[in-house]
Amino acid sequence: MSNDPIAHSFTTLGIVGTGAMGRGIAQLAAQAGLKVMLFDVKEGAVAEAKAFIQGLWQRSADKQRMTQVQAEQYGERLVEARDLTALAPCDIVVEAIVEKLDAKQELFGDLESIVRHDAVLATNTSSLSVTAIAAACQHPERVIGFHFFNPVPLMKIVEVIPGLRTDHSVTQRVDALGSAMGHFTAQATDTPGFLVNHAGRAFGTEALRILSESVADPATIDRIMVDQGGFRMGPFTLLDLTGLDVSHAVMESVYHQYYEEPRFRPSPLTRQRLSAGLLGRKTGEGFYRYVEGQQQMPEERPRRATPACPVWISREDSDSATQLAGLVEAAGWPLESGQQPSPEALCLLTPLGEDTTQCALRQGLNAEQCVAVDMLAGLAKRRSLMASPLTRESFIEAAASLLNADGTPVSTLQDSNGFVLQRMVACIVNVGADIAQQGVAAPATIDRAVELGLGYPFGPLRMGDHYGASRILTILHNLLHATGDPRYRPSPWLRRRAALGMSLTNGPTG
Ligand SMILES: NC(=O)c1ccc[n+]([C@@H]2O[C@H](COP(=O)([O-])OP(=O)(O)OC[C@H]3O[C@@H](n4cnc5c(N)ncnc54)[C@H](O)[C@@H]3O)[C@@H](O)[C@H]2O)c1
Repeated sequence: MSNDPIAHSFTTLGIVGTGAMGRGIAQLAAQAGLKVMLFDVKEGAVAEAKAFIQGLWQRSADKQRMTQVQAEQYGERLVEARDLTALAPCDIVVEAIVEKLDAKQELFGDLESIVRHDAVLATNTSSLSVTAIAAACQHPERVIGFHFFNPVPLMKIVEVIPGLRTDHSVTQRVDALGSAMGHFTAQATDTPGFLVNHAGRAFGTEALRILSESVADPATIDRIMVDQGGFRMGPFTLLDLTGLDVSHAVMESVYHQYYEEPRFRPSPLTRQRLSAGLLGRKTGEGFYRYVEGQQQMPEERPRRATPACPVWISREDSDSATQLAGLVEAAGWPLESGQQPSPEALCLLTPLGEDTTQCALRQGLNAEQCVAVDMLAGLAKRRSLMASPLTRESFIEAAASLLNADGTPVSTLQDSNGFVLQRMVACIVNVGADIAQQGVAAPATIDRAVELGLGYPFGPLRMGDHYGASRILTILHNLLHATGDPRYRPSPWLRRRAALGMSLTNGPTG
């Protein structure tokens, strides 16, 4: 909301808690021209934070990204508050202390008797209710969530979360301050996980479900999400990076705060791994092992080229059939054109949300010959295929060899309702669509916040448009039908827009 006409009108900003987050917020505020007063209960913490921030500015000056004068000017804007009462002149105080409701309530209670009546009290909480923090204040209308991401200067987004009793002008001023600090401001309602941590629920939980069904191992799932899905990082690499001590707690917290919403259901796998101390990168082992900080990714087995065999392609999805036929011809394999395959033919199917077994039986095909190819993302940088429990090994090898003939890597999966990419994308889009349905944030805000906060190649609504809302809906319907798990029930937002042929980014009035 960078074109918000309201100026932020803050000149002095207080920071309470100068750890990882507090120091990042202080840095941006000083760069935006505010005087910043820092307070921390821990002896020496403020001096350490100041030295840290000033060190960053000095390095920027040394690299000529800012002038020496600028670095010194910024440095002069950081002032230590020896005790809490020294924050009296602040127009806004941002707390970044421990993530405990009673500690934050007590702090804001104390601050209310110190700062001016019109000063704003902002919390950087990521999991507590802003409304609940404000409830202990005499003036809840001046309390707001101002949620930055780690590392603050690099993550160019801040969520602005009014509590139920926050004054609208406070929201506007804090939003304008976030923009002045150089970040995209995502206004969202005070709901569990706010916007970004809510939208991120599908990525880890669906990957863990896929793993727990033995569809594929973590490295295969990660490779598919990076190569086929265009994600910067796969879900297991991300879980290892964040650490299960943090991610498992967030998964449980959002799930329980939404009263056991099945879309957010965590996995028993992470609880077990947490007990075993397999936290990820920080303990040297998680889903991967780390040697001197380097992730040990298992090598991919080279594919064995097999002799050509006749190939029959299901024409249920004519676009996909055409693409596959081109690939068969380029590889020089014989293509069957009959209505039914011959008994010698490898049968290629292109299901959406169905497994190979169901897709073969529904089309009256012999499951022994059938291999399914994920065509959701076309035939781009990686190809995923899966087979029924009855499919002959020779046909699975032939399909892998055919799809690998031009050198593109191939991942082979166990039969699954929806391949890895289909399941992951459908769940991400569905959760995003339901965030829009609940009015947590505006559609454009949802997309931008997810791109900046989670680094996805598209926000969830644009991702739905990219792959086609009706295809996403088909995947979810088939997953729901086959599993009976309400986790896969489509959001009304998605269902209506897919039915009407509308973009998922359109609001209630189109
Ligand atoms: N680290 C993250 O990735 C992240 C991201 C977004 C939001 N948050 C939230 O930001 C807040 C701070 O997180 P962090 O990672 O910077 O923590 P941190 O442990 O790095 O720093 C917290 C600081 O607060 C100080 N402190 C604790 N209680 C205090 C009190 N009552 N008064 C004054 N100072 C006090 C501590 O001495 C410490 O220096 C938490 O609410 C956290 O949930 C963290």
